[in-house]
Amino acid sequence: MDALAFLDERVAQVIRELEEDFHKTGQERMWAPKLHPESARFLHMLVLIGKYRRLLEIGGGVGYSTLWLAHAAHRNGGHLVTCEIEVARAEVSRRHVRRAGLHGVVTFLIGDARQTVGELAGPFDFVLIDTTKADYITYFELVTPKLLPNGLIVADNVTSHAKALAPYIQHVRHHPLYESITVPIGKGLELSRRVR
Ligand SMILES: C[S@@+](CC[C@H](N)C(=O)[O-])C[C@H]1O[C@@H](n2cnc3c(N)ncnc32)[C@H](O)[C@@H]1O
Repeated sequence: MDALAFLDERVAQVIRELEEDFHKTGQERMWAPKLHPESARFLHMLVLIGKYRRLLEIGGGVGYSTLWLAHAAHRNGGHLVTCEIEVARAEVSRRHVRRAGLHGVVTFLIGDARQTVGELAGPFDFVLIDTTKADYITYFELVTPKLLPNGLIVADNVTSHAKALAPYIQHVRHHPLYESITVPIGKGLELSRRVR
């Protein structure tokens, strides 16, 4: 039984190639940090269960998380905006997304997300933050006015980078608009749901 049989085959093929890279340090087509595969599967499931349709990703890398989120968005009849500062990575991601047949549901925003996210109109109902740890609070505050009630902000690396992200955890746990919880999958995901 193919472990990715629940995905469309074109998408599964590209994801399989990217996941092989996880196990071939030094032989990767293009190195870039990625979500842990279990986190990616969890987020895919979460988007489908939550029926989210207006997705935003901050830190798209070479497109591993982008493929998972775009696939779920596509199944929900939605759309994903993905932000990446490194042009070369965004171009690799664009190729992966095209090969997977998901180019119709993804908008690439190449540039510094601290600026590009601020310029987006929104609204969004699902946001993934997976980028420079020092900027997580900045992104959280930038997206809050654009997040729909019941919308979800997911931040990666909260257990792998617990010390660096302690201020972020403090921030979201004490924010009056959110309920927040750590899910210890992969490198640790902080889920913050906008309650109103
Ligand atoms: C952890 S990687 C993202 C991995 C990706 N989410 C995945 O799972 O495949 C973080 C990415 O954030 C990008 N990045 C860093 N600072 C940024 C900024 N100010 N604006 C947009 N992207 C940024 C990096 O270039 C890098 O590709």
